[in-house]
Amino acid sequence: MVTISKTKVFDIRNSIQLKFAANYVALIVLLLVLMNTYPISMSRNLAFTSKMKTMEDQAGIISASLSEIGPLSADEVSKAMSSLEDMNLTRIIITDTDAKILFDTSETENNAGKYAIFSEISKALNGMDVFYSVLKNNAIMSRLAMPVQYKGTTIGTVYLYDYETEQATLISNIQKNMMRISYVVFASSILLALIFSRAVTKRINSILSAIKVVKEGSYDYKLTLKGKDELTQLGNEFNRMAERLKTTDEMRRRFVSDASHELKTPLAAIKLLSDSIVQNENMDVETTRDFVKDIGREADRLVKITEDLLSISRLEGETRTKPYKVDMKNVVFKALSILTVLAKNSEITIQFELEDGCFVLAVEDDLHQIVFNLIENAIKYNEAGGQVFVFLRKDDEKVVFITEDTGVGIPPEDMPFIFDRFYRVDKARSREAGGSGLGLSIVSDAAKRYGGTVEVSAREGGGSRFVTTFPIYKGGQEL
Ligand SMILES: Nc1ncnc2c1ncn2[C@@H]1O[C@H](COP(=O)(O)OP(=O)(O)OP(=O)(O)O)[C@@H](O)[C@H]1O
Ligand SMILES: [Mg+2]
Repeated sequence: MVTISKTKVFDIRNSIQLKFAANYVALIVLLLVLMNTYPISMSRNLAFTSKMKTMEDQAGIISASLSEIGPLSADEVSKAMSSLEDMNLTRIIITDTDAKILFDTSETENNAGKYAIFSEISKALNGMDVFYSVLKNNAIMSRLAMPVQYKGTTIGTVYLYDYETEQATLISNIQKNMMRISYVVFASSILLALIFSRAVTKRINSILSAIKVVKEGSYDYKLTLKGKDELTQLGNEFNRMAERLKTTDEMRRRFVSDASHELKTPLAAIKLLSDSIVQNENMDVETTRDFVKDIGREADRLVKITEDLLSISRLEGETRTKPYKVDMKNVVFKALSILTVLAKNSEITIQFELEDGCFVLAVEDDLHQIVFNLIENAIKYNEAGGQVFVFLRKDDEKVVFITEDTGVGIPPEDMPFIFDRFYRVDKARSREAGGSGLGLSIVSDAAKRYGGTVEVSAREGGGSRFVTTFPIYKGGQEL
């Protein structure tokens, strides 16, 4: 049973949890700042604008009624003002051109007769309309000054002052509520960020721990993650990868042990034979020659196995010759011309039909290995007087290479394994024929390398049938 250490995987400052939480909280803070500033400043500006419009209208009415009087005097102004409706303003001041106050509605500090020293009034006397507003202490304080014109000249100013709390209270209430909501949102966002990021990091940590366990060679370890998100998918993929690693590792172990076993047998025979020669002083020349011949045969076997092993490692290697256009017909023809001798010696006849234009994108040596091994097997696992048929055909998509023999055939239960390394159906027969059980595994590796397939089946009427296919070369497919 594998246990996972609970130690922290890394420094918290580098933790993905902290990064997640920090990003999330920063985003929320940004939103809250926006929520607390933008709507408030918008509603304050709206309140100011509507105030300005109202006060401008009011000042306009006053100014119009005063401009009918002509040059202003305190009496005339009071009269004109009393005829106007109540404007609901905190204070109205009317001055003459010297800024002397002719009319003032303030009851607490009525300044009639004094000089107004407000900057707004001096600007209005220079012909400008002046307005400004401020929100302070829960009140909107607005001031407006406007010149009074008579026949194109300024004869005085209207100065309005308004102190209003209703809208200001409304705005400050909104502000307070926004603040309260913000505190709640902020606190819950921190909480959520912590919960969420903890959950994510916990799962990432369990993946990391699983990787460590599998790295140490415990391929059976299974990672279980709840949910259906990307992390769960990552976990599932990881489990699948561990399974593959297990299979590859087992295959590697088996291969090494099989290979050592295969090499051990001829080496042991050589040792035995040479020991016998050395120990038996009276051995006659004829027997000695036979023993040395046997030693030579075993050495040939060793050479064959090592050559096959080299072919396998070459097929698996990364640095390989770039594939090029190969005419399969030439390859089959060459293999046939070499193997005819073997066939003749075993009293086997070969018939073949080779179509033209069967081009494949590959390396010629690899195709030769495939063709040679398959035809050689068809001869080796055959009987005297038997036949071998070789066909090379093509269609729009593929090149098809078929070998058929009237030989011993392959039992159906062995068929799934014959492409495995070192697998032999009849060990004695194969050994006798000098085989190591690597031929078909090289054939299958090489065919796969070029996008091809190899399939075996029983031949109708006895024997075996091997069908190998390759994608046909149509030009322009070079890498
Ligand atoms: N045409 C065939 N008919 C009957 N049995 C076959 C045929 N081809 C292969 N086999 C069986 O499959 C086994 C594996 O074949 P493979 O070519 O991989 O090895 P081998 O011929 O024994 O050795 P090698 O090819 O390395 O010299 C053979 O030992 C043989 O038992
Ligand atoms: Mg073979």
